[in-house]
Amino acid sequence: MIQSLHHIGIAVENLDDAVRIYRDQLGLRLDSIEEVPTERVRVAVLFAGETRIELLEPTGDDSPIAKAIAKRGPGVHHVAFQVDDAQGEITRLDAAGLRVLDEEPRPGAHNTKCAFIHPKSLGGVLGELVEPAR
Ligand code: CO
Repeated sequence: MIQSLHHIGIAVENLDDAVRIYRDQLGLRLDSIEEVPTERVRVAVLFAGETRIELLEPTGDDSPIAKAIAKRGPGVHHVAFQVDDAQGEITRLDAAGLRVLDEEPRPGAHNTKCAFIHPKSLGGVLGELVEPAR
């Protein structure tokens, strides 16, 4: 079951510049900055009230975020939904006809499990499922 919006992922070219804009100018609360080697990104987690925003900076040219920026420029990269059971949701959405890009959940930051949904299935928006750590 989809429980809530988990975060919005935004591709940025330079994380320090983006943090200055989103924290210092826009006024969001910075929670953490960390590197996720498996996704080849550096991530700044900010909050607008309860809503989580993740700024994603590629750490190499082979990063999916680097490819997205090369193709479409920086900007909104994906919308993530919190789920109670990532594997169960993969199976359910696949059966519903959506193109889920992961057959089984992959490990995300903070011991989460995640999976991606192809933009062609969601009106041009890359979707992510996030099952929080227990
Ligand atoms: Co995400």
